[in-house]
Amino acid sequence: ANPSILILPGDGIGPEVMAEVRKIISWFDAKRGLSFDVSEDLVGGAAYDVHGTPLADSTMEKAQSVDAVLLGAVGGPKYDSLPFEVKPERGLLRLRKEMDLYANLRPAVCFDALADFSSLKRDVVAGLDIMIVRELTSGVYFGEPRGIFTEGNERVGINTQRYTESEIARVARSAFELARRRRNKVCSMEKANVMESGILWREVVQKVHDEEYPDVELSHMYADNGAMQLVRNPKQFDVIVTDNLFGDILSDAAAMLTGSLGMLPSASLGAPMANGRPKALYEPVHGSAPDIAGQNKANPIACILSFGMALRYSFDQGAEADRLERAVEAVLAKGLRTADLMGPEGGSPVSTSEMGDAIVQALDES
Ligand code: NAI
Ligand code: MG
Repeated sequence: ANPSILILPGDGIGPEVMAEVRKIISWFDAKRGLSFDVSEDLVGGAAYDVHGTPLADSTMEKAQSVDAVLLGAVGGPKYDSLPFEVKPERGLLRLRKEMDLYANLRPAVCFDALADFSSLKRDVVAGLDIMIVRELTSGVYFGEPRGIFTEGNERVGINTQRYTESEIARVARSAFELARRRRNKVCSMEKANVMESGILWREVVQKVHDEEYPDVELSHMYADNGAMQLVRNPKQFDVIVTDNLFGDILSDAAAMLTGSLGMLPSASLGAPMANGRPKALYEPVHGSAPDIAGQNKANPIACILSFGMALRYSFDQGAEADRLERAVEAVLAKGLRTADLMGPEGGSPVSTSEMGDAIVQALDES
């Protein structure tokens, strides 16, 4: 049987960028004999409109049974005043929680044609290709005790950074597995100098390395130094693995190395399934962009590159993922830009569908 993909376009620009991904999927089917069993369903506001819930149980079941889920974006002003339990983002949170997606992958790739778009100097970022793996289901955002308590005559806000050995070990394994498909290098970031959870983190990552992945080059770095190094010389890294809080901050910082939100893909991976593939959800980092929705203006590249990540990390098609990334690079090198990639000097932007067509054409020429 063909590998299966569930497409959840969602709201706003989600369906617009996903339509371009469909073109790419069709191209791989027609020209590379790479066929997928593609099904489509509703998520977010689109699901609420039909089912009164942002993720129907039947959709959740499908998500659990496919090889990869590809999601556009959820949310929009139309749904902002809904009660908390049925807000569009609850659909996404339910997917992440029930699929137990504990490793969030955020690549920071700087396409040469966009190097001048970065917040940093061209030579610092040109050719950059790093991957931040953020632990997504534990740590200080979830640890107990948490709350605002009264202590004497004032209040105190408490959160708890808590990691078990198995939580650290599984995300470390995700990072080492990724590194083996990349440049075989992992840098683990924590603050073992001041945090108990950091001491345990460093010890467990080292143990998983020594026992299971001795072939991968491992280094450790304090997360504050890591933040400096990411801006000073990001190309020294291949895979960075870190906890939920540091990963949240470091991945947003890394995003700015590369330019536009419209260029950033992501993946969230869980435990390996019976067929050896990890549970997986691929999605662009951006949201539903209500300010430009329905205008054929959105940049589809983040969503297209998210499919590229699926090719690489769910379907073992690294060479085809490379081909797709080269096609994106070629189109950018020709000077094609959606509006979000235009500098202050302006120019004439291409539309969402024109960008998708151009990438398909570049694939044809590859
Ligand atoms: P956003 O990412 O939707 O938009 C931020 C800015 O970036 C906007 O000016 C938008 O036009 C632009 N932008 C985003 N993606 C773009 C693309 N592909 N091409 C060109 N320009 C792009 O974030 P915002 O405005 O904070 O949130 C809008 C809605 O999206 C809200 O309802 C929010 O809850 C939701 N959201 C959903 C996410 C998801 O589905 N994972 C993530 C973030 C926000
Ligand atoms: Mg963040």
